[in-house]
Amino acid sequence: MSHHYKQIKLGKRLAKIAQLVTDSDTQVWDCCCDHGLLGLHLLTAHQTRFVHFVDCVPSLIDAVSEQLVARKLVSRSRTYCIDAGNLPISTDAAQLIIIAGVGGDLMASIVAQISRQYPDKSLEFILCPVRHQVDLRDTLRALQFSLINEHLVFENGRYYEVMRVSNQINQTRTITRFGEAIWGANGAESYHHAIAYLQQNKQHFERMRASDRENTDDILNGYNQIKITPF
Ligand SMILES: C[S@@+](CC[C@H](N)C(=O)[O-])C[C@H]1O[C@@H](n2cnc3c(N)ncnc32)[C@H](O)[C@@H]1O
Repeated sequence: MSHHYKQIKLGKRLAKIAQLVTDSDTQVWDCCCDHGLLGLHLLTAHQTRFVHFVDCVPSLIDAVSEQLVARKLVSRSRTYCIDAGNLPISTDAAQLIIIAGVGGDLMASIVAQISRQYPDKSLEFILCPVRHQVDLRDTLRALQFSLINEHLVFENGRYYEVMRVSNQINQTRTITRFGEAIWGANGAESYHHAIAYLQQNKQHFERMRASDRENTDDILNGYNQIKITPF
């Protein structure tokens, strides 16, 4: 009965995130939701899904609440004006926690906080940081999270890594420091994007090294060893 709902259009980055959400993800947290576009899309795309909207800015959460009323989506949603590191997860059902559009360093501390709070729950996350992707990956590795899948997205002249990860240990699907699947091109376009994104990272960390920042040698070495697999 999806014709009851007005479909929400997403840009490429949010659309890729939405693609990684499956029919079995019935409890979804749209953290740092801002306008709530992603969560609203997920509610209209799947009729039995429940979405929790979280943002720390009251006026944004008020606006999302109004949207939910206007679109008749209140019964399958809840809004919270809280820090995303403090999610009140109350059921035993599997939970999917989405965090996108904040720096990888902040994202790392939010994920670490949630994972410390719920050591016995099986949680999955879709993460799409703005920069600091190595910091985030280092934290996920330290927490012994495992990789489900990872992608590279290009939108408005910028590259974004999107990954779906689990807090359950799985030795065969470890998260790598610099990414793996994102460098495997499967067509001329993704080959071009992988090359450009790698080049961008190298240039960024070259500049950081020139300004004497810590730990940049290590990261630069890592990026220099990446081999892009042509299709
Ligand atoms: C740029 S928006 C991202 C919106 C959307 N997730 C996206 O990717 O398009 C970042 C949002 O994160 C919220 N935010 C930042 N830190 C937060 C925190 N610790 N807890 C909850 N929300 C936070 C801000 O208020 C802002 O609305």
